[in-house]
Amino acid sequence: MCGIFGYIGDSSAWRILVNGLKRLEYRGYDSAGLVTLDGGLHLLRTRGTVSALDRLASRTPPPGSLGIAHTRWATHGRPSVRNAHPHLDCSRRIAVVHNGIVDNYKALRAFLERKGHRFRSDTDTEVIAHLIEHFENGDFEQAVRKALQEVDGTYGLAVLRSGEQRLFVARRQSPIVIGIGRGEHFVASDPTALVDHTRKVVYLDDGHLASITRDALHIADLRRVRVSPQVKQIAWDVQAIDKGDYPHFMLKEIHEQPDRISDTMRGRMAVREGKAVLGGVRLTDEDIARARRVILSACGTSWHAGLVAEYWFEHLGGIPAEVEYATEFITKHPQLDERDIFIPISQSGETADTLEALRRAKAAGARTLGMVNVVGSSIARETECGVYIHVGPEIGVASTKAFTGHLCGLFLLSLYFGRRRGLPQDHARTMLRQLAHVPTLVQKVLSRSRKVKQLAARYAKARNFIYLGRGINFPVALEGALKLKEVSYIHAEGIPSAEMKHGPIALIDRQMPVLFLANRDESYKRVLQNIQEIRARGGRVIAIATDGDTQIRHYVHDVLYVPPVPLLLSPFVNAVPLQLFAYYAAVARECNVDKPRNLAKSVTVT
Ligand code: BG6
Repeated sequence: MCGIFGYIGDSSAWRILVNGLKRLEYRGYDSAGLVTLDGGLHLLRTRGTVSALDRLASRTPPPGSLGIAHTRWATHGRPSVRNAHPHLDCSRRIAVVHNGIVDNYKALRAFLERKGHRFRSDTDTEVIAHLIEHFENGDFEQAVRKALQEVDGTYGLAVLRSGEQRLFVARRQSPIVIGIGRGEHFVASDPTALVDHTRKVVYLDDGHLASITRDALHIADLRRVRVSPQVKQIAWDVQAIDKGDYPHFMLKEIHEQPDRISDTMRGRMAVREGKAVLGGVRLTDEDIARARRVILSACGTSWHAGLVAEYWFEHLGGIPAEVEYATEFITKHPQLDERDIFIPISQSGETADTLEALRRAKAAGARTLGMVNVVGSSIARETECGVYIHVGPEIGVASTKAFTGHLCGLFLLSLYFGRRRGLPQDHARTMLRQLAHVPTLVQKVLSRSRKVKQLAARYAKARNFIYLGRGINFPVALEGALKLKEVSYIHAEGIPSAEMKHGPIALIDRQMPVLFLANRDESYKRVLQNIQEIRARGGRVIAIATDGDTQIRHYVHDVLYVPPVPLLLSPFVNAVPLQLFAYYAAVARECNVDKPRNLAKSVTVT
């Protein structure tokens, strides 16, 4: 996905545009560009990060108090200045920045080239600028509307035209948020880039086109039917999106987890009654009691949270649970009906594959309940009801606090289901009491991060890594491996401990480090057995073990201790040392932790 920013007001636009892009850079950092309007258009574009654009603009500041800007995650056309946005029409009077994909761009380009248009890039986006030029006939807004009606695909876009003191933004599936200031307006792909200026925002809906001046905001659909803007207030402030004293957002967000887990559970635990209180769940008790199954669907880290929750829904919720990669779910013909509850899990609420899976499940007749972080996001708006996890903006591309936030939301939801499907009150009460301790346990793990740092530095030269977990900790092993891959580029695999002997054990030699999740719980003896199978083949073994477990020292090379924790809650405590391990390995390898290569915070293209 890409980041779009726009400004119209009385201040010099370029500085505001560059700072806006800096707030959106976690969305893509292959190239960046901006255009301001002052008489004609003033275009600046660079390859790479926004700071390169900042240097260029600082050297030759473009005039004007109206402009649009873009930071790119390349889909069509390799990262280059030529393919950087904004893209212009033939006359260089119309400029477009776009987040999304124009599926029919080849056909549109051929049509426009037959009409004499000359293209300067390999991107899909450039056709939009030429299409608007093609439809221009005195009413510019109508030309934009007509052009968008020709586009198949997804877009969040902003358009500028010399001679027009207006910004135009439109949305189909990719997010656009408008910020309302005094005598000025801002547009952005998400609210994190607006909070420096205002907390009054309007989330543009699909199929809407907004025309924005310094003082006015007009929204209409593509058939020109006016729509009144729904102004919302952003709940968090600038501190939430600043690194503070941390060197990286990832480390800051790892250390935020005790507070954020508390935020997710705040006001949602009636311990004495043994009840999870989830005001956003608008399924009736009868809907839940007669439900046939829950289907959890997501991508990346959110999918791993779904795999952990599968245990909770079956163990505490008393309901069969299935977990689907959203990317795979959309290739299937799901046999669903209103007795099935589809639960999309997403930090951003904008991941296109998860959104598509949700739409398919709805079309197939399932009930829908979202588990989301970003308030007002597409998945939140397209599900019948849901749970916000309230962990605040997550900027680090590798998801951390949203993982434990999702775990907390899903644990509460499984209890909520359980109490409507026969889970005894005292059992639920015990679970809630144990959950209430999780922030303290996570804080204890964080207080030991120096030990993790030392160990990660010693293993940072590894080329491959295997993470092993059993039962509810297999998904945590998957998450640990993903974190290491995402930020340190070390190839890593998460595998169920006992599955090793059925094949992957062939990989074991002195160069292959293996990390075991070996908490002192019901599966401890079996895990010790698995450890010996690896040691017998010369593998180097690290264990995440329980405080006071001196026995394990005889079996492994290195140990990271975590406090004792009930098995069902161990994913909270085990995930944190794995996040820290990946972080410190990446730092030791001098990787760009917050902007890992080839990644984006959430992918809004399927
Ligand atoms: C990827 C991110 O693009 O999307 C991952 O790099 C994330 O960190 C995944 O887990 C899913 O995103 P979301 O927002 O749907 O949870």
